[in-house]
Amino acid sequence: MNYRHAFHAGGFGDCMKHALLLWLLRALQRKPAPLFVLDTHAGAGSYDLASEPATRTGEWRAGIARLLDEPPVVLADYVAQVRSLGLYPGSPVITRALLRPDDRMVCCELHPDDAAELRRRFAGDRQVAVHHRDGWEAVGALLPPKERRGLMLIDPPYEDPQEFAALARGLATGWQRFRTGVFAAWYPIKQRAQLRQFLADLQQSGIRDIVTAELCLREPVDPTRLNGCGLLVVNPPYRFEQEAPAMLAALLDRLGDREPGEAISVRRIVDE
Ligand SMILES: C[S@@+](CC[C@H](N)C(=O)[O-])C[C@H]1O[C@@H](n2cnc3c(N)ncnc32)[C@H](O)[C@@H]1O
Repeated sequence: MNYRHAFHAGGFGDCMKHALLLWLLRALQRKPAPLFVLDTHAGAGSYDLASEPATRTGEWRAGIARLLDEPPVVLADYVAQVRSLGLYPGSPVITRALLRPDDRMVCCELHPDDAAELRRRFAGDRQVAVHHRDGWEAVGALLPPKERRGLMLIDPPYEDPQEFAALARGLATGWQRFRTGVFAAWYPIKQRAQLRQFLADLQQSGIRDIVTAELCLREPVDPTRLNGCGLLVVNPPYRFEQEAPAMLAALLDRLGDREPGEAISVRRIVDE
């Protein structure tokens, strides 16, 4: 396991993922019934953007740093959370900030150092459980939750090209076990060809009600660069397709450098 999220924290991929995550959580919390959140690839929880890894890549300078001053209205909620949470927050810390007293979260993280850091952060927190375990295996083991309402964030590192296939399998397993759950899976866009098979597999999987939200900063032709990213949402909450475009457009406006091929899209790939 070579991937360490500390090198990428606060980059445009994080901004897109976390802004949409926050929207999804708020949407699910419109109903008072308790909510379960599973973060299958949770990372360390928070990141020091002045640390050596973050400074070395500087990804956050072209990401969150561009949103902090006068954030666009549609991103104000996300930016306010980032400001209020101290060190740059990862997905578990953002989610934890929103949990209501009867909501709960399980975080899975396989890297021993990151899992230990996450455990320390949530020690004594009765609403959060941290598992040093394989997130793919947890999708089978922990679903469906007793609450019967849940959001599963799936955010693997994509170190291995097989990770798209693992994601398609993980989504199929999760959906078979918990058909009403909301699954949100982040994916990188390097080249379109990589994605075609993945999206085709999902269209054949039997899973219903799938929408993709994508942000591309440039034409995805250079396979060595993160040219864009997407969030695939199964069972998107009411108005996701209507409201996500404005958030993506605001992200592109601030984080894009007006390169050829920049684009946003929100696309239904499987009907309800
Ligand atoms: C992209 S990072 C997660 C970032 C985090 N979700 C956030 O938004 O703040 C992916 C994480 O998955 C962890 N990881 C890799 N393989 C895993 C697996 N099979 N199960 C659980 N965690 C894994 C890595 O150590 C890394 O911390």
